[in-house]
Amino acid sequence: MKTINLASILLFFYGFIWSQDNINVSDAYVQSNNVLINLNNNSKMSLKFLDSKNIKFWFSKDGEFKRNNKSFAIINEVFEKDFKVNIEESTSMYEVFTGDLRIMIYKSPFKIQIYNKYQRLIMGDDNYSPYQVQGTQIKTNKILREDEHFFGLGEKTGTLDRRGNSYTMWNSDKPCYSELEDPLYKSIPFFMSSYKYGIFLDNTYKTKFDFGKENKKTFSFSAPNGPFIYYFMYGKDYKEIIKSYIKLTGKPIMPPKWALGWSQSRGVLTTEELTRNIAEEYRKRNIPCDIIYQDIGWVEGLQNFEWRKENYNNPKQMLSDLKTKGFKVIVSQDPVVSQATNKQWSEANANGYFVKDKRTNKSYDMPWPWGGNAGVVDFTLPEVANWWGNLQQKPINDGVKGFWTDMGEPAWSNEESTDRLNMVHHLGFHNEIHNVYGLTWDKIVTEQFEKHNPNQRIFQMTRAAYAGLQRYTFGWSGDSGNGEDVNAGWKNLANQIPLGLSAGLGLIPFWTTDISGYCGDIKDYNEFSELYVRWLQFGVFNPLSRAHHEGNNAVEPWLFGAEAEKLARQAIELKYKLHPYIYTYARTAYDTGLPIMRALVLEYPNDEKTFSIDDQFLLGKELLIAPVVKQGAKYRDVYLPKGEWIDYHTGDEYSGEQLIKYPVELSTIPIFAIKGAIITKSPVMQFIDEIKNAPVNIEIFPSEKKTSFELYEDDGLTNDYKINKFSKTLIEAQKNENTIRIDINKPLSTGYKSEIRNYLLEIHVSNKVKKIMLNGKKVKTKSKEKLEQSIDTKFDEATCSFSKKEKVIWIKIPDNKQNNSIEILL
Ligand code: NOJ
Repeated sequence: MKTINLASILLFFYGFIWSQDNINVSDAYVQSNNVLINLNNNSKMSLKFLDSKNIKFWFSKDGEFKRNNKSFAIINEVFEKDFKVNIEESTSMYEVFTGDLRIMIYKSPFKIQIYNKYQRLIMGDDNYSPYQVQGTQIKTNKILREDEHFFGLGEKTGTLDRRGNSYTMWNSDKPCYSELEDPLYKSIPFFMSSYKYGIFLDNTYKTKFDFGKENKKTFSFSAPNGPFIYYFMYGKDYKEIIKSYIKLTGKPIMPPKWALGWSQSRGVLTTEELTRNIAEEYRKRNIPCDIIYQDIGWVEGLQNFEWRKENYNNPKQMLSDLKTKGFKVIVSQDPVVSQATNKQWSEANANGYFVKDKRTNKSYDMPWPWGGNAGVVDFTLPEVANWWGNLQQKPINDGVKGFWTDMGEPAWSNEESTDRLNMVHHLGFHNEIHNVYGLTWDKIVTEQFEKHNPNQRIFQMTRAAYAGLQRYTFGWSGDSGNGEDVNAGWKNLANQIPLGLSAGLGLIPFWTTDISGYCGDIKDYNEFSELYVRWLQFGVFNPLSRAHHEGNNAVEPWLFGAEAEKLARQAIELKYKLHPYIYTYARTAYDTGLPIMRALVLEYPNDEKTFSIDDQFLLGKELLIAPVVKQGAKYRDVYLPKGEWIDYHTGDEYSGEQLIKYPVELSTIPIFAIKGAIITKSPVMQFIDEIKNAPVNIEIFPSEKKTSFELYEDDGLTNDYKINKFSKTLIEAQKNENTIRIDINKPLSTGYKSEIRNYLLEIHVSNKVKKIMLNGKKVKTKSKEKLEQSIDTKFDEATCSFSKKEKVIWIKIPDNKQNNSIEILL
C-alpha cells in the first residue's frame, strides 16, 4: 500500500514536468531482427537486435521511425549477419530470448527488462515512468541498484564513477574550467554500468544524464528533441562493451609514431625566431622533443592558411631546417573566416559556405576572440570539403606535419550564448548540429588530408567533438589550470587524471592535458616549478604529451630552475624509453578501442576499490602509475590491485589488494610493474627513430607464471597498418626454481620488416647467475660497457653481463628475425 502511495506521489510530481501517460502495449511482433512494439498512445518502440548481446532501442512518440539526418556517429549496425529473433507471448508480457539475453516486454504498464541467461537483471525500465514525453522531449528512467556504478561520458570533469551526478552534453568553451565544470568541450553520450552493459544515446541535441542525483532509485537520460535512439551493449566486462562500441562508431586511427614523443607549445609560439630558438635549446640541452606547435597567430588572416609575414621570414626554410633536426611542426586551425580576412570571407560568403542566421538568411556574424567577427564555416555543406582541403594543404606543402583543430564548439557558443541557436547549418538547425559541429570539421580535415597526401598518416588533435571522433582525430583537454592564481592549480591537475581516463573510455586513446595547465599567468617560475614538475610527471604518460600555456607564458622545461629541468629531462626520457611499449598499445587501441592510459576499473572490474580510484592508472596492462598531485607531498597512497607488484625504481616487491603509503620526493613518480611484466623499450633518443638501428630493449620481471608480450612494429608513417602491414614479435618468459626461460619468437612479418638490430634484454633477478645459454650455446660474459659498445652498429655477437648490485642481467643478442630461446641457469 505504501509503495503505491509513493508511486502516485512520484507520478503526480513528475506530471508537472513531464507528461506521464500510463503506457500499455497494444501488440508486438517481429520483423527479422527487429521487434516492433505498438503502444496504446500512438507511440512505438523498436528493438533491433544487432546480435545476441547488442540492441538498438528506438522510442518514437508519434509512431514514426524517421530522423532528419543519418547518424553522425554510427557507421555499422550489422554485428551478426541475418541475425533473427523470435518472440513469445504470455498473458502479461512478450519475451525475446537471444541466447545471451532474456528481454521481457511487460504489457501493462509497458516496461522492458533485460536479464542475462542466469536471470540476473542487467538493465530495467523504471516501473512507473519508463518513457516520459513532454513536447519534443523524451526521457527514459531506469532502475538504479544500490551497488550500481557508472563510468564514461568521455572527457568530463568530476570523479570517474558518475553515480550521484548529472551531466549535460553541449560542447562548451570554458577557459580555466574547474574540476566540476560541466558541460565541457566534447559530447560523448556513451557510458558503461558495473552491471556489465553500456549505453550509447545517439542523439546530438543537448542531452542530459542523471545517475541517481535527482532520484536515488532511478537513473535517466533524456533528449530535448530528435530521434530517441540508444544502443544497449552487453558484455562480460567493460572491454567487451568497448568492442561493441567501436563496432558501432569505428576504430581509433593510429597516430604517426613520432606523435607519441614529447611536444612543446605556447599561446604565442607563432614566430620563426621563437620556434627556431626553442628547437635549438631542446637539442642543446639534450631534452628529447619531436613536435613544436604553432598557435593560431601563425596565420596572416583567420583562416587563410598563409604564414604571417612579419613573424616568419622563410617558413619553408624553417620547416626544412627543423626537419633535419628531427622536429615536426603542427599548426593550429580555427573553423571560421574572419571578416577582416576580406578576400576569403567574401569568397566564402558569396559561395554560401558559412552557417546562416535564420533571422536574416545571411551568414551568421560570430564574435571571435581574435580577428574580429567571423563567418562560421559550414562543414556539413558538401562543397566546403574541397575548398577547405585546398586551403589547409598549403602549410602541409610547405612541410607542416599536421593540425591542431581548435575552437570547434564553435567557441563562444556555450549554453548561455542562446543567440547561437539562430544559426542554421546545411544539415539542420544549430540545436541539432551544435554538438557535431566539431566532428564534421574533423572529418573534412582528415579526409582532405588523406586525399592530398595519399597513404600518409594524419596528425590531428581536437578540442570539440562528438562520439565517433576517433575515426578522424585525437584529443586534448583544452584550457585547464587556475586562471586566478596559477600556483593554485593543484586541483585542476588532479582532475586531469580522471578526465583523461574517462576520455580514454570514450574512445580518445590518443590524448593530452596541457602540461602546466593552460590558464594563469606564471609570474614566479620558482614558485610554480613544483606544480610544473608534477604536471609534467603525469603528462609524460599521456600519449600525446604536450606542454602548453596561455599567451606568452613559456613552459619549456629549462625555465623552472636546474632541478626542475633535470627532473623534466628524466621524465621525458622515460617516455622515450617506453615508446616501443606504448606504440604496441597504440596498435591495441586501434584493434580493440582500449586506451593506453587505463582506469584501474577497466583492468580490474570486479575489484570495487577501483571504482573510486581517480588518481592512478595503468599504462597498458603491465605498469601502474600513481602521479603525485599534492603540493609538498612526502607520501602518496597507492592502491595496488590483485597481483604481485614490483617497485619500478627500487625492485621492492608488494603483494596486491592493498593500499600502501609510498614515500615520495619531487623526483619520484611512483611506478609499479606487475610481476611477469615484459616491457619493450628503446634507448633514449632526442626524437623518435633518431637512431636507425637502435636495439630493442626488453625489460623482464620474471614470474613463475608464464607471461608474454607481443611487440608491435610498423612503418610508423603510412596507413598501411590498416591493411595489416606490420611485424609482431611474441616474447615469452617464465621462471622456474633454477632457470629463467625467455623465448623471442620469429616475428610475424606481414609487409613490414624491422631494421637490422640487436636485442638488449634487461632481466631482473634475485639469485646469482650460473650460466646463460642462447639456443643451447653458452653466451660469453663481458662488462656492461663492452656489451653496449657498438650495440647499434654490430649485429653478430651475443654477450651478457650481470650486476650483483642492480640485480640485473643484460643479454645482447642479434635480432636474426628467427626463434631465439634464452636460458638463464640460476
Ligand atoms: C584555445 C585553446 O584551447 C588554446 O590551447 C589555444 O592556445 C588558444 N585557443 C589560442 O589559439
